Amino acid sequence: MIRLAGIDVGNDSVKVVVEGSPEPIVIPSIVSPGYERHVFQEEDSPVNALDVEVHSPKLKKNNQRYFVGLLAMEDQDNSELEETDNKATSDQSLIVALTALAYAGLTHQNQDYEPTQGQTAPVVEYVIGTGLPVRTYAGFHKTFEERLVGEHQVTFLSTPKLKGKSIRVIIRQAVVSIEGAAALFHMATHDNLQVKNEELYYGCIGICEMGALTTDFPVIKRMSIDNQFSTGEQFGLSGYLDNIIRDVEDQFGHRFPSRTKLIQRLKNREYIIQRVGEGQADIRPIVDTYFSRAANKVVDLIVKKWKKYPDIQCFYVLGGGASALKSYINDAAGPVRLRFVEESDLQNVYGYLKLARNKMNQAADKAQSQIQTQPQSSSSI
Ligand SMILES: Nc1ncnc2c1ncn2[C@@H]1O[C@H](COP(=O)(O)OP(=O)(O)OP(=O)(O)O)[C@@H](O)[C@H]1O
Ligand SMILES: [Mg+2]
Repeated sequence: MIRLAGIDVGNDSVKVVVEGSPEPIVIPSIVSPGYERHVFQEEDSPVNALDVEVHSPKLKKNNQRYFVGLLAMEDQDNSELEETDNKATSDQSLIVALTALAYAGLTHQNQDYEPTQGQTAPVVEYVIGTGLPVRTYAGFHKTFEERLVGEHQVTFLSTPKLKGKSIRVIIRQAVVSIEGAAALFHMATHDNLQVKNEELYYGCIGICEMGALTTDFPVIKRMSIDNQFSTGEQFGLSGYLDNIIRDVEDQFGHRFPSRTKLIQRLKNREYIIQRVGEGQADIRPIVDTYFSRAANKVVDLIVKKWKKYPDIQCFYVLGGGASALKSYINDAAGPVRLRFVEESDLQNVYGYLKLARNKMNQAADKAQSQIQTQPQSSSSI
């Protein structure tokens, strides 16, 4: 059976939603070289200890072992993505993406772990929806699609509950759309793809989607992307997090081993850090400095865009950056009203799933008859 899934291959985290599964799977985009580790106490959940070997003809370095996500977070040799990385071509992005899809395949309810006859590993087949930043889309969407589509295999090694299990991940089709635009499609439609919000579906909407390394500003009119006014910037929250990590280390000698580790604290509003020698320090002033700076930059770009294109009826600020900076952005925006939504970092992935479904419906409709698809299910996003 082919499953539909949305996958947001984020620079900070990979998010997956599989049709029929209520909970999204979120795995930090961080990997480190894997090795035989000493397990004193087994982790309570497989996502906390993803130890995998990834086989894929699309990887430049094939058949390697990696710690992925939280397990790599504390590792000295871990690597997080940098501004120069391109998620359409990066091995690291593909490794985390395949691990996420394999994990979803093995843990999905009703999944039969047993291999089908004549095969060594069970198989999960997907049609996926995914996306790229505005700036990368035109040049790389074909490459991204080609890297994803095909047969891959993931073996879990010391991962609790999945130890020794392999799964073949076959991606039949990948529908690539644009970050931020997919999020709007999600906000404007119901699960059955009928229009939910007419203002968003038929209006002219500005989006600022701030991720880890990129911030996208698509402008969408009647669900079509405006080619002239949609832009993307090569910055995101990560650069500011790196500055915070550096200043905290300089001032207090406390080193965060990864951005993921820092953001975990900020999400819990834990600003007090432990110093060697029992002292404590408050990192809030450093956070405020950089987050205000980030917010000012974002608001500046939004206002500039809005002035250039006054047809825009409203502006949404989305992505994990919106959650992190909401109060700072509202302060910086003054009288300019900006809109925020809950779970802003998950809006894209829900949109990707809907766009994959939309594509499947269109294909099914086309196969059944030559009649054009209904207007409410068509979208140029
Ligand atoms: N609820 C939250 N509170 C604070 N920060 C958050 C929250 N959710 C996400 N973030 C942070 O916001 C940043 C952007 O997250 P997001 O998930 O949008 O990035 P991404 O999609 O992985 O990156 P990109 O879009 O560049 O590929 C990350 O640094 C992330 O840790
Ligand atoms: Mg993103």
